[in-house]
Amino acid sequence: MKKIVILGSTGSIGTNTLDIVDRFPGEFQIVGLTAGANDEKLEEQIRRYKPTVVALSNASAAAKLRDRCRDLSTEILSGTDGVAEVAQVPDAELVISAIVGGAGLVPTLAAIRSGKHVALANKEPMVMAGKLMQEEARKHGVRIFPVDSEHSAIFQSLEGHRREDVRRLILTASGGPLWDFSREQLQGVKPERALQHPNWKMGAKITIDSATLMNKGLEVVEARWLFDIAASRIDVLIHRESIIHSLVEYEDRSIIAQLGLPDMRTPISYAMRYPERMPLDLPSLDLAAIGKLTFFTPDHDRFPCLNLGYEALRIGGTMPAALNAANEVAVEAYLQEGIRFTDIAEVIRSTMEAHTPREIESIDDALEADRWAREKAEALVHALAR
Ligand SMILES: NC(=O)c1ccc[n+]([C@@H]2O[C@H](COP(=O)([O-])OP(=O)(O)OC[C@H]3O[C@@H](n4cnc5c(N)ncnc54)[C@H](OP(=O)(O)O)[C@@H]3O)[C@@H](O)[C@H]2O)c1
Repeated sequence: MKKIVILGSTGSIGTNTLDIVDRFPGEFQIVGLTAGANDEKLEEQIRRYKPTVVALSNASAAAKLRDRCRDLSTEILSGTDGVAEVAQVPDAELVISAIVGGAGLVPTLAAIRSGKHVALANKEPMVMAGKLMQEEARKHGVRIFPVDSEHSAIFQSLEGHRREDVRRLILTASGGPLWDFSREQLQGVKPERALQHPNWKMGAKITIDSATLMNKGLEVVEARWLFDIAASRIDVLIHRESIIHSLVEYEDRSIIAQLGLPDMRTPISYAMRYPERMPLDLPSLDLAAIGKLTFFTPDHDRFPCLNLGYEALRIGGTMPAALNAANEVAVEAYLQEGIRFTDIAEVIRSTMEAHTPREIESIDDALEADRWAREKAEALVHALAR
């Protein structure tokens, strides 16, 4: 049995991963699970999967969990250190990295440094410190398998081809739930509307990122480091139906793409049993029933966040970490209805303008930029607060 750890087991990716584990009894053994503060859901998971060790980053939620799980032998840790410890549990082979946000950087890096292969859904650490993560993965002889559907599609479209023949990567984007909104409509849009994604059911933060197109900005940075390719060779194409998950163009102008219904269990399972495919009992893609696929170029005026992602990558060093932190603060403020939808891009832009980037030589450089940018973005949010 393949022993696995799931970081962020109570979230959307985490529960989809457990769905795959359930579908293939005897193939995977859960040895570690982590979450933020959802002690009730983690308790259910502990009782069902009997991991050796779990952690909640929230200390008081962990104390409640310990109280309720006295009858069990699972060790319950807490705090950021506890989550990072679960990521290194000695007998795990594969760590599913599915925490949301920069909080995943320390545990994901800890998993890599302790010699675990990583199935990476949590894109923010790659944005904050992608070069460092890849260097550490090489040093420790581990692989980082993409889980993000676009990066999994590129990974699959690169298989069996020569890297020297790649001309460009084309990341597809659904355009999110507000694609047709005018600038005025975007200003007044409420979180409950922005959270209604047309194709994907995901956590709140990535759904708002999808609505602003920052998700695609983050994915451009992620692709740069996952596939070691210059930003100038990464394009973005709006594809409303989310059927073509991304494409690779080769030097002879052939394009290889990966298609499928929008269901994260397909890319998750590919990362879990690579290079074999798992026989998932899911509906087949019926292209005749879909009839038509549509494509557009992104509208950078209404959705400036995508270009902020390219800009952070062009500047380099700690700038992508600053962009990511500012985005997390701004999205949270928007979800709490403290700022307007269109303020999200302004908070990120102003934070980037105020940031003096430096090279990332260690994880501390990324964490320091993250801390600085959060403070700056919080001040900007405070000034904008209604
Ligand atoms: N959902 C998708 O379909 C999808 C697709 C592609 C990529 N991704 C990426 O995958 C990651 C997870 O997304 P998601 O949609 O699954 O998010 P989600 O549903 O919000 O779940 C996030 C998970 O992280 C945990 N968590 C939150 N804050 C934490 C902290 N400070 N420390 C430790 N754990 C913490 C949560 O625990 P609690 O439940 O206790 O809060 C939960 O288990 C994101 O980076 C996202 O961009 C997601």
